[in-house]
Amino acid sequence: MKIAMANDHSGVELKKVIRAHVEAKGYEVIDFGTDSTERCDYPVYGEKVGRAVASGEADYGIAICGTGVGIGMAAGKVNGVRVCTCSEPFTARMSRRHNDTNVLTFGARVIGVDMAKMIVDEWLDNTPEGGRHKRRVDLLMEIEERR
Ligand code: RB5
Repeated sequence: MKIAMANDHSGVELKKVIRAHVEAKGYEVIDFGTDSTERCDYPVYGEKVGRAVASGEADYGIAICGTGVGIGMAAGKVNGVRVCTCSEPFTARMSRRHNDTNVLTFGARVIGVDMAKMIVDEWLDNTPEGGRHKRRVDLLMEIEERR
């Protein structure tokens, strides 16, 4: 299974730790950077992750910026992407079970390393429940056709 990862300048250090964490869990990482702490633009990196997931190049995406919000909004602009931006594990877990999210984002200025690992574990270790939740996800994706 492949995970597309990207971050802006604020997420460089946390990305390195999370990359090692998911690799230790057996995932292959496609890393779109940035590896520089020079100021850069989160939409560029969010889009890279979104496109990798939507095209099937990656199974999941994880993206990090200062809050997780901007990079998540950018990834979510790509058709086929369902983003979970969160700061605690419960939402991460439920977003997989009920919303079939395929991109996870969080903020390097919001949470610490251990919380980020916990969030990633809950997100990757849970699967969509299907049933009524699948019907709702289908309704969600139909909105893209009316954009
Ligand atoms: C960069 O300063 C910051 O705006 C960005 O990392 C992110 O938090 C945007 O949502």
